[in-house]
Amino acid sequence: MARKFFVGGNWKCNGTTGEVKKIVTTLNEAEVPSEDVVGSLILFFWVAEVVVSPPFVFLPLVKSLLRSDFHVAAQNCWVRKGGAFTGEISAEMLVNLGIPWVILGHSERRAILNESNDFVGDKVAYALSLGLKVIACIGETLEQRESGSTMAVVAAQTKAIADKVSNWDNVVFAYEPVWAIGTGKVATPAQAQEVHCELRKWLKENVGAEIAASTRIIYGGSVNGANCKELAAQRDVDGFLVGGASLKPEFIDIIKSAT
Ligand code: G3P
Repeated sequence: MARKFFVGGNWKCNGTTGEVKKIVTTLNEAEVPSEDVVGSLILFFWVAEVVVSPPFVFLPLVKSLLRSDFHVAAQNCWVRKGGAFTGEISAEMLVNLGIPWVILGHSERRAILNESNDFVGDKVAYALSLGLKVIACIGETLEQRESGSTMAVVAAQTKAIADKVSNWDNVVFAYEPVWAIGTGKVATPAQAQEVHCELRKWLKENVGAEIAASTRIIYGGSVNGANCKELAAQRDVDGFLVGGASLKPEFIDIIKSAT
């Protein structure tokens, strides 16, 4: 089953209007294989699906300026229909703005805002119910890895999502080991492949073989222009969710690592 390579850029809580415009200009000027140009199955594997995720306040601006073959994602959305939830952004608002993607369950929100597995599962289900496409984040802490509970943690996070998802067409999993996020300590290709393979096996046993084969599992955590190629070459690594490096021109190199 061919899985289209996916490169997400999570800008996190960064940027000014000027800086955002500069990043978008760099993206718009990038010479990367694109379906508009290629339009051929042969290069399908080399054309990455690119989604960038600015802070909420810049979503309309980025959407209005970004090239048509790249897309935008919100970094979060609320768990149910909007209303008396001060400060929240509803999934309905993203749909209204024509924002197609949303990142949910990022470890920074799980840790800092105590988003539980169930809460993330509910968010994913609600966003999908409105037709949004979801990058669902999972990953273990250093303590959990060192205690040997990586797969137990990742499986529990995945189960909380899988129990509430019926249509998997718009789900991308992002495995982001917390100990690799923002630390420069990228997972080795073998470490990434091991968890991605185990996660795909979990999907096969608990959801179904077809969904396991077609669902993209991308890696995040200190990905950069130097380490992306070796990671991208791993059989079960279907792309990346990039933080710091997505704010820099090397993000283009990461897009080009599509295999
Ligand atoms: O969501 C992607 C992010 O958590 C990874 O951050 O800076 O380690 O690439 P970074």
